[in-house]
Amino acid sequence: MSTIIVGTPVTAGLGELFTTHGLSKKALVLFDENTRKLYGNELLKTLTHQGFQLKELVVPAREASKSFSAAYRLYGSMIEADVDRSWNLLAVGGGVVGDLGGFIAASYYRGIPVIQLPTTLLAMTDSSIGGKVAINHPLGKNLIGFFHLPELVLIDPSYLTTLPEREIYSGMSEVVKYGFIADEAFLSFLDLHFNDITGLQEPWLTEAVKKSAYIKDDVVKRDFREENGVRATLNFGHTFAHGLEKLAVYRHLRHGEAVTIGMVCALFLSHSLGYLDSKSLERGLAILKKFRFPKGVLKRRFLDIESKLLLGNMFSDKKKLDKKLRFVLLKSLGEAFLLEEDVNDKPVLQAIDDARTLFSGKSVH
Ligand SMILES: NC(=O)c1ccc[n+]([C@@H]2O[C@H](COP(=O)([O-])OP(=O)(O)OC[C@H]3O[C@@H](n4cnc5c(N)ncnc54)[C@H](O)[C@@H]3O)[C@@H](O)[C@H]2O)c1
Ligand SMILES: [Zn+2]
Repeated sequence: MSTIIVGTPVTAGLGELFTTHGLSKKALVLFDENTRKLYGNELLKTLTHQGFQLKELVVPAREASKSFSAAYRLYGSMIEADVDRSWNLLAVGGGVVGDLGGFIAASYYRGIPVIQLPTTLLAMTDSSIGGKVAINHPLGKNLIGFFHLPELVLIDPSYLTTLPEREIYSGMSEVVKYGFIADEAFLSFLDLHFNDITGLQEPWLTEAVKKSAYIKDDVVKRDFREENGVRATLNFGHTFAHGLEKLAVYRHLRHGEAVTIGMVCALFLSHSLGYLDSKSLERGLAILKKFRFPKGVLKRRFLDIESKLLLGNMFSDKKKLDKKLRFVLLKSLGEAFLLEEDVNDKPVLQAIDDARTLFSGKSVH
């Protein structure tokens, strides 16, 4: 499994860390245009001082960079620079850079080590951990990829100070998800310190990031290849979310925004199917009501969408099995499970309607 290090500055002593992990000090450093501009010079300087031989790679800062054409271009510049299997790839950015970097590392020369240096809240707590790396295909997201665990995950919450608020809330959705699926005490902590964390206040921010990263890592350890239902619990709220993201053509809703709405639906469904008691439902909803959406987004991307249309789009979720929708539900706050039985459309549509009622009563920011 990967070694996860949380600290500020996380790059201090990186050379030694590479050596103790048997990694050469030859690193391809992959950025997107934003992380290159914000952190590139300083990072490259620090690594050079620590004796690294470096080659820089940059891709546009957008989801479209998770593509064959982007990978192909990068392979070309790596071959031209005589990069061989003795090199490592350090991915510096959000989930796009992490997924693309991991994909390239998994495939180039039949695999070179990848080191993740996540710079978004989502990447620090989710995408950089667990070794799922992928690019998109025009017919679906994340369809072409590998399981390629990072040797190291280097988490430094201070990178979040430059991250736009919308991205903070999007990442926070996955953080809260960990509370729901795995740890009630953590959920209470998140409830109490929600504003401190989204306001990037320490020590709460680091505590939340660390705990989330460890929960994800633990889940992955128990079910690396998603075979026994444990890793599937990370998809709490995601069956609904994937339908919403598809309707928003993967552009107009951030993943975490869709997951926030999806978790509200999943809480209602857990309750209506008799798994979650009313008190827990109310407590869960109160936490999710704290999330903010940019003006108009919630209305256009959820409140104005017909429940049946959303349900139809949920069916194209690649995680469906035999065209049946799979739902992750809660037994209690802090305990999730993958429901094996089929669920009728009726309670699912009702859960969407209930979520709509909750959100339409909320002042939209
Ligand atoms: N591999 C997995 O297990 C896994 C899990 C969840 C999501 N993902 C993938 O992650 C991707 C989404 O990741 P994301 O939400 O991090 O998006 P992202 O990588 O697109 O980053 C969001 C935006 O923030 C910018 N940015 C990054 N760090 C910054 C910083 N410190 N300051 C300012 N701006 C910064 C980026 O340039 C980008 O514009 C999706 O492609 C999704 O499929 C993968
Ligand atoms: Zn997610």
